[in-house]
Amino acid sequence: MAKQLHPSCIIPFERSMRISSKIGFWGSGNMASAMMRRLLNKQVVKPQQLYCISEFGRGAGAFAKETGANTCGNSSSDLIAASDILVLAFKPQQLETQAAQIAEINNRLVLSILAGTSLEKLKKHIPNAGILVRTMPNTPGRIGEGLTAYCSRNQLENSDREALMAILGSLGEVIEIEEALMDVHTAVSGSGPAYVFEMIAALAEAGEKEGLTPYLALKSAKQTVLGAAALAKQADDPPEELRNQVTSKGGTTAAGLQAMADGNFRDLIHQTVREAKLRSIEMGKE
Ligand SMILES: NC(=O)c1ccc[n+]([C@@H]2O[C@H](COP(=O)([O-])OP(=O)(O)OC[C@H]3O[C@@H](n4cnc5c(N)ncnc54)[C@H](OP(=O)(O)O)[C@@H]3O)[C@@H](O)[C@H]2O)c1
Repeated sequence: MAKQLHPSCIIPFERSMRISSKIGFWGSGNMASAMMRRLLNKQVVKPQQLYCISEFGRGAGAFAKETGANTCGNSSSDLIAASDILVLAFKPQQLETQAAQIAEINNRLVLSILAGTSLEKLKKHIPNAGILVRTMPNTPGRIGEGLTAYCSRNQLENSDREALMAILGSLGEVIEIEEALMDVHTAVSGSGPAYVFEMIAALAEAGEKEGLTPYLALKSAKQTVLGAAALAKQADDPPEELRNQVTSKGGTTAAGLQAMADGNFRDLIHQTVREAKLRSIEMGKE
């Protein structure tokens, strides 16, 4: 049975931690560029400490030109040579197609953000890695409101832990979890923002169908979700209690909640998370 998370495991990032390491991003797509931007915005590193590559070099080149970071084009061996820390930020399927290049990594702190890719699989591909850390960030990290879980197969030295916290902390909160929880964490928190965006879109669409202008419907949906999430985060009360505080007997919210219950809302969300978790497990086997 996997250990449950204790709230003290959640480490908020409150101050800018500067590190002197050179960080190489293997991939410069959505998540990698979001992470690199946060590292620069929070002044965790200077642009000269960042190195990046992309499949054809163009994406990495454009990022480097815009930010002053270094690019190694599409040369993974140059990236390995230049970096103290490597962040694997390509698609999980690309692990197999780049096996020979990845196997060259030696004696580095390696952070993987590859969904569904186990530490065991990473170790098989990078036998001489040094320290291997599996992480799962989410897209609100782009604005420092993310939640990133990590697990490692090695005992982390203080210097590695500090670098790890500086990198992941620039995205928001950080939690250490057992690897057995990574698939469900991915399903809830990695994919979770997409469910909430879908909720915002659905709420806006419903508002529009019931008479709001498109502008007002979207504005109301966004601000309502933001306000409710901020209140849920700040309040000591559980979400059910906050829900009850909005709900008077025979009132409008009660009528709306009844429709959600009739539509098996909780079962639907459970099914959503379960499917995402199963997919994460499946991807780990591919
Ligand atoms: N998006 C999310 O919400 C999210 C959340 C958590 C974790 N992740 C994980 O983050 C990783 C990246 O996802 P993403 O959404 O950022 O994907 P993406 O935007 O498609 O970026 C993938 C990057 O990998 C590069 N790449 C592909 N093959 C390469 C090669 N042979 N050598 C060097 N670079 C190569 C691509 O280069 P080109 O630009 O040349 O194509 C691109 O820069 C995935 O493993 C995913 O599981 C994503």
